[in-house]
Amino acid sequence: LMLASALEEIVVRHAAREGPLLPILHDVQREQGYIGEADVRRIAQALNLSRAEVSGVVSFYHDFRRAPEPLPVLKLCRAEACQARGGEALARRAEERSSGRVKVEPVYCLGLCSVGPSAMVGDTVHARLDPDALDALIETIA
Ligand code: FES
Repeated sequence: LMLASALEEIVVRHAAREGPLLPILHDVQREQGYIGEADVRRIAQALNLSRAEVSGVVSFYHDFRRAPEPLPVLKLCRAEACQARGGEALARRAEERSSGRVKVEPVYCLGLCSVGPSAMVGDTVHARLDPDALDALIETIA
């Protein structure tokens, strides 16, 4: 549950644009890590939408979480350039090595294609991953 003032600030930031719902949801997700039931209610109220409408959008996009993720999240780039640099093998390795301690998620291009394979933890991006660097990264966050 986000502080009312923090949520209000996000709503105000986007209220004037066309289609403010998605940018608001993205900001709440980024700042809080998930979009809770109370957030859905407040956003619906602020935008004059029904709760079902807001809930529907939250459920439709897999990037949005309804509850906090209990594990640290490692986002591994699975887009083409990183795949061509061994991303698939790294993803398999990440699943094996992190076994239940880290949530490994795909992400599609982090804008670091020329120095991939790339990953992101929180707001920090990691480039030039090889098996050793990946293992070290997993041990750091697990
Ligand atoms: Fe992985 Fe662009 S394809 S960073």
